Amino acid sequence: MRVALGVSGGIAAYKAAELARLLMEDGHSVQCVLTSSAQEFIRPLTFAALTGRKVITDLFHASSGEDVLASAVEHIAVAQENDVLLVAPATAGILAKFAHGLADDFLSTLYLAFEGPVVVAPAMNTAMWGHAATQTNLAMLAARGHVVVDPGVGHLACGTVGPGRLAEPAIIAAAIQAIAHPLRDLAGEVCLITAGPTQEPLDPVRYLTNRSSGKMGYALASAAHARGARVILVSGPVDLPAPEGVERVRVRTAQEMRDAVMQRLPESTIIIKAAAVADFQLEEVPRQKVKKTSARFSLELVPTPDILAEVGSIRGERLLVGFAAETQNLEQEARRKLESKRCDMVVANLVGGEGVGFESDDNEVLLVTRRNGSIAVPRASKLAVSHRILEECLKLRLVGQPA
Ligand code: PMT
Repeated sequence: MRVALGVSGGIAAYKAAELARLLMEDGHSVQCVLTSSAQEFIRPLTFAALTGRKVITDLFHASSGEDVLASAVEHIAVAQENDVLLVAPATAGILAKFAHGLADDFLSTLYLAFEGPVVVAPAMNTAMWGHAATQTNLAMLAARGHVVVDPGVGHLACGTVGPGRLAEPAIIAAAIQAIAHPLRDLAGEVCLITAGPTQEPLDPVRYLTNRSSGKMGYALASAAHARGARVILVSGPVDLPAPEGVERVRVRTAQEMRDAVMQRLPESTIIIKAAAVADFQLEEVPRQKVKKTSARFSLELVPTPDILAEVGSIRGERLLVGFAAETQNLEQEARRKLESKRCDMVVANLVGGEGVGFESDDNEVLLVTRRNGSIAVPRASKLAVSHRILEECLKLRLVGQPA
């Protein structure tokens, strides 16, 4: 893999040389970028000798002719030529620049131009690490799906003892290996995932629906596919493209979703129900448009088929994961659904707030399991949350089925 290794200015910058060596040993090509502060701690020549490549040290380093133009767009070229951007050590300053999109040197400009995976390995004084500003910036980076290799605890150069020491180069190199050789831990599994809302017609022109965008279910489908599973995505009406490599079955109503799930159940090994299925429908849908004849209009609705409960009653050895969208008593309600619908796990999320739940790119969930208690997953991108859900599915596979 082609790794752009950014080194920012901290005493741990010298460890980046060992990291560059390990990355080369693992078969990666390494393009080093040193900030001006990093060059106060370690010379570019060290990295040039280790990687066999010119080290980038500033945004505008040429003085004449065509070189000036080439250097002015070099951050774009480096962004396009590399597969992963790794920053180690990442100071509080560079994390803040990344979090807020401040692009005033080569590394921070490269970050904005880079579209692939980003890994940061912070290193700093304990108080700086614990400062709310640093933690908020890190949370923002994690929410973008970036990998944060946490610092170790120990004696720091400034004389304090605590968290802030750069993670060992071997640990950081392992994070790059994990990206180069992604997990195939769901190989052999067939994941049946539901996503999006359903639409329950009221007449030929009107319907009942809800706010689900499908983002959560689609993120789950992408994550499961990336981990090697065959994925069948039963999707209500949403505006999202089908994730690459995923078989999508489009449905509209709860009844259609039920029929599609039941049809594909025999070949499935893991079922995850992220769809926001309408709970009620009209028993008889009028064939003609309902006319506005009076000021009031009443509807008598009947329940839709409870797909999760039906799957729970015939699931056999399959792993079954339900969702719970709640506005209060999150854990209590999720545990009730876990029992009544015979799930292995319920992914509970609070809905009705801003930034998580319906429509948002992020989510924050509680994984309520039968065997492993309840696990809080802090706010992160729906893709990152999906990977956390799948990791828990794998653990549940190991401990076995509910009694
Ligand atoms: O799609 P997004 O905009 O990304 O939003 C994501 C989400 C908020 C929709 C998602 O995270 C979520 O919470 N999905 C479940 C929503 C829901 O319907 O929750 P519920 O508590 O009403 O239902 C519990 C479970 O029963 C769910 O797994 C649901 O799919 C299932 N169910 C519900 C009704 C029904 N008739 N049949 C079902 O199978």
